[in-house]
Amino acid sequence: MTATHSTTASATIDFDSIKNLTATETRAVDQLILKELSSDVVLINQIGHYIIGNGGKRLRPMLLLLAAKALGKANDHHLILAAVIEFIHTATLLHDDVVDESVLRRGKESANAVWGNAASVLVGDYLYSSAFEMMVRTNNMRVMEILSKTTTAIAEGEVLQLLNCNNPDTSEEKYLDVIARKTAILFSTATRLAAVISASDDKTEQALTIYGQQLGVAFQLIDDALDYKASTEELGKNLGDDLAEGKPTLPLIYAIEHGSPEQAQIIIDAIRHGSRDAFNAVYEVVKATNAIEYTEQCAEQAAAKAIDALQCLPDSEYKTALEQLARFSVQRDH
Ligand code: IPE
Ligand code: IPE
Ligand code: MG
Ligand code: MG
Repeated sequence: MTATHSTTASATIDFDSIKNLTATETRAVDQLILKELSSDVVLINQIGHYIIGNGGKRLRPMLLLLAAKALGKANDHHLILAAVIEFIHTATLLHDDVVDESVLRRGKESANAVWGNAASVLVGDYLYSSAFEMMVRTNNMRVMEILSKTTTAIAEGEVLQLLNCNNPDTSEEKYLDVIARKTAILFSTATRLAAVISASDDKTEQALTIYGQQLGVAFQLIDDALDYKASTEELGKNLGDDLAEGKPTLPLIYAIEHGSPEQAQIIIDAIRHGSRDAFNAVYEVVKATNAIEYTEQCAEQAAAKAIDALQCLPDSEYKTALEQLARFSVQRDH
């Protein structure tokens, strides 16, 4: 497919106006989330409210709701699934911060930093289970099949990534496989489920699946670029977490391939040892080889494909918002 829609030409994206388009539905989703977090097990309540209450962009539920509205209307099952997707996302974050040993999330101490690894893993499990309990309420076998395949793929992505850690020979292809599974599939499931619940035709479901998938790829590419170039304040996460884990993300893979032998060696050693100490030296090589620009170009191409896929939808302010969110995924600084 040829991407024909430029993602760079637009002015700054007004995220708040986009949010307003689903404000009523989002309030209902938030109510549902709060209700589902209530458990008589105190720690589940505490950690659940802590992580959900600390904000987060709520991008995935927003995408599901916008897609539903682009197809007509967001009904009760759309609302349930928006909450389900955010629960699954939050569960992956609780687990991810344990695996990545990250101590900052959404601008605050991560749950593992406050309560420890065991509590984070177990409450992550609770959120996963609770998401599945909610999903059953849709009484829709296709929804259940898609969601269970999604969580399986996310787990595979995280394990594949673990296998790639400290391996400087990781190829771009392997990296792309990891991000397709660990990140992009949840975005694609969010927008796809909007079509499934709206009983859309196959072509529309396929278009929204591709849209979410490509947006998700763009989103993770930029996340991996931001780990080297953002500010901690904007990001709400510590820079260099990927390097500390010896994660061979695209900026590093590209820098190895395009740096001088000496420059490549700096990156190879840093990936092998997985330490934050080499951050400045690595950053210099990443900068000198234009590895961030390359990563951003790849993200732009993915976002353009996402926007292209949407073109079979009827024009509406919701479709425009979906296009803008694909651009936001590339232009974001947090
Ligand atoms: C973070 O996702 C995890 C990635 C896939 C990179 P978000 O950046 O959407 O996290 P929140 O929900 O806004 O905190
Ligand atoms: C995203 O990976 C986590 C999942 C999709 C499960 P990262 O490890 O890059 O996410 P951040 O940077 O910690 O948010
Ligand atoms: Mg992480
Ligand atoms: Mg990251």
